Amino acid sequence: MDLERRTFLIGAAATVATLRVAASIASASPRAPLPADPFTLGVASGDPLADGIVLWTRLAPDPTNGGGMPPDAVAVTCELATSAAFTTVVATDVTNAIPDLAHTVHVEVDGLDPDTDYWYRFSVEGWTSPIGRAHTLAIGAPESLRFGFVSCQNYADGYFPALAALAEERCDLWLHLGDYIYENANGGPARSHGPEECVTLAQYRNRYGLYKSDPDLQAAHHAASVVPIWDDHEVDNNYDAVDAARQAAGYRAWFEHQPVRLPAPTGPSLEIYRRFSWGDLATFHMLDVRQYRDAPPCGGGLTDCPDRLGVDRTLLGLPQEAWLEDGLAASVAMWDVIGQQVVFAPLPFGGSFNTDQWDGYPQQRDRVWSALKQRPNPVIVTGDIHAAGVAGLHDTLGDVTTARIGTELVGTSVSSSFDPDLVVVAETIINALPYIEYGNARDRGYTVVDLTRDALRATYRVVSTTESPEAEVSTAYVATVPARSGAAAVPVPAAPSFTG
Ligand SMILES: [Fe+2]
Repeated sequence: MDLERRTFLIGAAATVATLRVAASIASASPRAPLPADPFTLGVASGDPLADGIVLWTRLAPDPTNGGGMPPDAVAVTCELATSAAFTTVVATDVTNAIPDLAHTVHVEVDGLDPDTDYWYRFSVEGWTSPIGRAHTLAIGAPESLRFGFVSCQNYADGYFPALAALAEERCDLWLHLGDYIYENANGGPARSHGPEECVTLAQYRNRYGLYKSDPDLQAAHHAASVVPIWDDHEVDNNYDAVDAARQAAGYRAWFEHQPVRLPAPTGPSLEIYRRFSWGDLATFHMLDVRQYRDAPPCGGGLTDCPDRLGVDRTLLGLPQEAWLEDGLAASVAMWDVIGQQVVFAPLPFGGSFNTDQWDGYPQQRDRVWSALKQRPNPVIVTGDIHAAGVAGLHDTLGDVTTARIGTELVGTSVSSSFDPDLVVVAETIINALPYIEYGNARDRGYTVVDLTRDALRATYRVVSTTESPEAEVSTAYVATVPARSGAAAVPVPAAPSFTG
């Protein structure tokens, strides 16, 4: 990798050293000045640690048309400070943004304080980026955590007022559960993707350029640090028409445009499952249910057949399953949060199941649930289906005569549509299931979760429209789940209190 990166934690004299390095890198690449503001896609921070953060930007004066950059490395300066005024800069980095990575940069800063706000910005040749806020993870025994989660932001289907509202929530952290872009051509009711379906790396890069030009998506990134995982549309719907080259292109573009602490992929694989802890209050186990899955059984779709119950069928792949089970066994967290894409709770539709979800892989689900329910407070957060729901996860999944142990929080889409003709029937079927506390297919929005040592409180926020960037935002539902203080020894209330 010809990426040249030098990071400095600033002591008394480090500002001088940083300026000297910036000058030496910049002078190594004589060329014409950049044609226009390169910071059209904003900035982002993500994959926080207790002492570190990843800071991201891309130089792209023409973001939907190849980026508009010269075919050279360009030195970018990044500053991290303790206030938005940048009076005390605690780290400065000079990184070469290179064409091979679409002039994106991923700056890994370390040596930071836990559970602390920082502000960062980039600069190049007299241009200065917007300012973003980053936040490090807590250590020890924190009393609380506020995190948001979203999924499914189809640009063509609608605007992103949900993301603008999420930016106002003062989250410590937010999760993006995938479908950050959609790969298909042309339009939905609100905006257009343009005439090309994404297949090549150049096309995926332009699609990220389109999405990340959205001011509300930028606002969400500028407000707080994100942990992103992908779903299917970062490559192709349900991976229906994927070959190795297309998968490699989708994964590469995803990596380039997300503030993740991962290696740049060079082929059709990238291990993105990873773990984050908020002291001993919460551990996030972030999963990938797309890359390693067996094909859905019974031909896929809403169906059933004996193959669905095959013991060898896997959604996670066996290495990821082992990683998850090992992590749960080692966890000391009060709340173990599984961040993933597809619905975990059983959802029978008559005699059929949605075989794209965990219902298509029930044997592996049972193994994962056996490990998860050893923890005192398992929580699963889910995206993918463009509808919101809260499900009780009982000792025997789907059997409300057994103790309720955990909760699945399914978040609705930011903008992606749910077929309006199916809203009522879907809500009717889902809400008839005895372990479903809430089901809402009609609204778009986001979810904010407040965790304390006493309870989980999930606030389902919905927007009045996605047909314009402006919308009224309201609370559709609040789910409150009291914490169980220890592993299965403590009796579980049969019906945790829900208000809303
Ligand atoms: Fe989606």
